[in-house]
Amino acid sequence: MIKETQKTIVSSWNEWDPLKHVIVGRADGTMIQAPEIAVQREWPEQGYTGGKYGPYPKEMIDKANEQMDNFASMLEKRGIRVDRPTPIDFSQKVQTPDWEQDSMFGCMPPRDLLLTIGNEMLEATMSYRSRWFEYLCFRPLLEKYFEEDPNFKWEAAPKPRLSEKTYKKGFWEKWNTLSEEEKWEESTKSEWIPTEVEPLFDAADVVRCGKDLFVQKSMVTNQSGIDWLQRHYPDHRVHTVRYKELLPWHMDTTIVPLRPGLVMFNPGRPALEPQREFFEKNNWKILEAPKSVLTKKRPMTFCSIWLNINLLVLDPKTVCVEASETPVIELLDKNGFEVIPVPFYEVSPFGGGLHCGTADVYREGTFEDYFPKQMSGF
Ligand code: ARG
Repeated sequence: MIKETQKTIVSSWNEWDPLKHVIVGRADGTMIQAPEIAVQREWPEQGYTGGKYGPYPKEMIDKANEQMDNFASMLEKRGIRVDRPTPIDFSQKVQTPDWEQDSMFGCMPPRDLLLTIGNEMLEATMSYRSRWFEYLCFRPLLEKYFEEDPNFKWEAAPKPRLSEKTYKKGFWEKWNTLSEEEKWEESTKSEWIPTEVEPLFDAADVVRCGKDLFVQKSMVTNQSGIDWLQRHYPDHRVHTVRYKELLPWHMDTTIVPLRPGLVMFNPGRPALEPQREFFEKNNWKILEAPKSVLTKKRPMTFCSIWLNINLLVLDPKTVCVEASETPVIELLDKNGFEVIPVPFYEVSPFGGGLHCGTADVYREGTFEDYFPKQMSGF
């Protein structure tokens, strides 16, 4: 039985104010999704190659769910209200008038879909066909919040067509012929698979710091999506950011704000925009993220080993970090945080770490300007 200590208030302006209510995902029924244009997935060691798809093994799902359940009860013990999505049958075929997709994906990472800014929760467009209907898993919660909080603004970004025109023709054919060096060279152009025919973004390509939103142009977010966000949030300053990274998607292992004036950057992903100068100019201290204790990805994981910094800040003095990641834990401890070690690596194959696996409903705090010194062109 979930003890509902926190009454429903939807509000969150940043990544660090005191967290009172959060959504934690579920791994049930997650699929290695059927082939689609946006994704290239090859796990020959497990036999997933040449377009093979199917459900994740039950033992993996059970282990991930156990870690998520334990994480949720730890948060509840600290007085944070936790809600969970309602998985649907992800093995089913889905279609719209423009396409058919032989399977869906899952609903582990709520961060990818739900963007909470102030009293509004926005359902992102998403940009994979397998994830087009993922919002359905969160509708029971959103309906409830709408009923219970008279100030909650419920929004959905325009559902994209995701027709063939949405994706650059021959993107993978070209990418697969490039040498490693040519791929890095290509990455500085930030010309990823989405075209600009319609706005596209995943919520996890947005990092929230009060009045300033940093949005990454990526494999799942195009410039049109970033422009849409700026028009949708006229009181915010939306900064387009790009990094030297191969096939980037989602920013929560790239820049990690910890509290006002303190941010962690991923040294493996240098920014192509003057992001460092921007933070320094506003007197933010920058920590370089330490390397993961892992040397290679866990089986059937499509995230990088930089999930070591995919952390959840509970308040400006308290942070949850994957339990085995001693280097990050020590760094945050030295910087004045109480670190709560949370075993979470069984969840990574299902789409990420502690930040991906959660979505804010309510953090205390107000709309603030943490970057009074702006830079022209950024
Ligand atoms: N591209 C990121 C990495 O692998 C993905 C992190 C997953 N984030 C998420 N919100 N699902 O490092």
